[in-house]
Amino acid sequence: MEKKKFYITTPIYYPSGNFHIGHCYTTIISDAIARFKRLEGCDVFYLTGTDEHGQKIQKKAEEAGVSPKEYVDKIVANAIDLWKSLGITYDKFIRTTDKEHVVCVQKIFKQLYDQGDIYKGSYKGLYCTPCESFWTETQLVDGKCPDCGRDVSEVSEEAYFLRLSKYADRLIKYYDEHPEFIEPISRKNEMINNFIKPGLEDLCVSRTSFDWGIPVTFDKKHVVYVWLDALSNYISALGYKSDDETLFNKYWPADVHIVGKEIVRFHVIIWPIVLMALGVELPKKVFGHGWLVINGGKISKSLGNYKDPREYIDSYGVDAVRYYALREVPFGSDGVFSEEALINRTNADLVNILGNLVNRTISMDKKYFDGIVNNPKVNEEIDNDLIKSCEDLFTIVPQKVDELKVGEALQATFDVLRKANKYIDDTTPWILAKDETKQDRLQTVLYNLLESIRICTIYLQAFIPTTAEKIFKQLNTNKTSFEDAKTFGLFETGITLNEPEHLFDRIEIKDIS
Ligand code: MSP
Repeated sequence: MEKKKFYITTPIYYPSGNFHIGHCYTTIISDAIARFKRLEGCDVFYLTGTDEHGQKIQKKAEEAGVSPKEYVDKIVANAIDLWKSLGITYDKFIRTTDKEHVVCVQKIFKQLYDQGDIYKGSYKGLYCTPCESFWTETQLVDGKCPDCGRDVSEVSEEAYFLRLSKYADRLIKYYDEHPEFIEPISRKNEMINNFIKPGLEDLCVSRTSFDWGIPVTFDKKHVVYVWLDALSNYISALGYKSDDETLFNKYWPADVHIVGKEIVRFHVIIWPIVLMALGVELPKKVFGHGWLVINGGKISKSLGNYKDPREYIDSYGVDAVRYYALREVPFGSDGVFSEEALINRTNADLVNILGNLVNRTISMDKKYFDGIVNNPKVNEEIDNDLIKSCEDLFTIVPQKVDELKVGEALQATFDVLRKANKYIDDTTPWILAKDETKQDRLQTVLYNLLESIRICTIYLQAFIPTTAEKIFKQLNTNKTSFEDAKTFGLFETGITLNEPEHLFDRIEIKDIS
């Protein structure tokens, strides 16, 4: 049977400065979803990358005394290294300076111009340079940019425009017919009420006041203005309008674009309109997640209020960071990021629940049975609940991931692990061990525990892969595929467990600087 395809994307981030935990947040969650879909047997394409053009980057490069390309190359190398440290399994890292992307955007621009969807006009507007956004008077907050709170300046210049207004009715119709297109649902109402109902203004898609961008082929003093350039990455990465459209034909439309809430409007208004104008199918879903905030404000490159995420990885381990990103904040809501919360979460779940369970179970099996796995099947009533909970995960976890509730998928898995810890306290193996006649019951109890760990770890492979690999190494089992999580009792009997290896150290909250 042909594998089901799954195409997932993150925003392409601005390489105006090194990335922070907020960028990691989106990328880790998308990675977990991509990994989970692969585990389920899908043919996955996971795209991330960098959005490298624009006035802001040009300015930054000037300040640094290097060319824009030199400036971004350094940050991109740093980003790729960061994704490696976080175990991000993207299938492609696109840069908007890639030749293939540049040519694709030029072709898109030309087609839209030729068919009358792009026209030349003159732009007057309030522009926020750091955010690269134009705003209307009514959108400003106290006369300042509503996103970053800084001054905006009035700009007037010759520019090309994309006719958004022409497509407004089709767009609303599309929303109505595809209720799953924008999630969470609250963001959809915000789009309709704040942007579409007041009337869509045509979008400026070229600039002449700076030149760090993709040149418009038929009017060289213009460069493509950033959103048309940026959004097109989702199809240029698949070879759209190139000599080889195999990937595009295979993976498009995207199953989900994961984005932060501040750029939902570009993804659910401009992007669908560009695609409609091109005659290309629309993505199935745009999910706008909330922000990680520090002291009530957004973590910001320009405010510099953050540490390099590698510091957390070095101090607490990659899976502590991944687990925190996936578990701490319900996906869709804002949440406060703090190192202290990361530590507490690691201690409470990874050390106390997971690490403890694995260590206790393997050590007991080593102590009582020399690490041999066996299932004499001396079952008691108390086992049923644990067994059922493990098997229920086979329905719950994929469903939660499909709903993009990754934190809840993890929570369900950890509920079972917690239950397994309680099962140890309730069955008291150390007391059974003292009774010669209870050896078969003791081994059954340990088998049930090992089996619970095995099943939960199958799911954990998508979320905390380094730890999952360590656990499987200790368990010495080959039953690690997604299908192997369906049935309780598949753990191979007769094999010997490997030596227990400590998974997580308890972290002291000392002086976090
Ligand atoms: N280049 C555009 C996106 C173009 S997509 C076609 C852009 N870049 S960005 O560098 O500003 O990245 C914004 C994205 O980074 C957010 O939408 C979100 O995914 C992620 N985050 C950046 N800061 C974040 C937080 N503080 N919290 C959560 N996510 C954050 O916009």
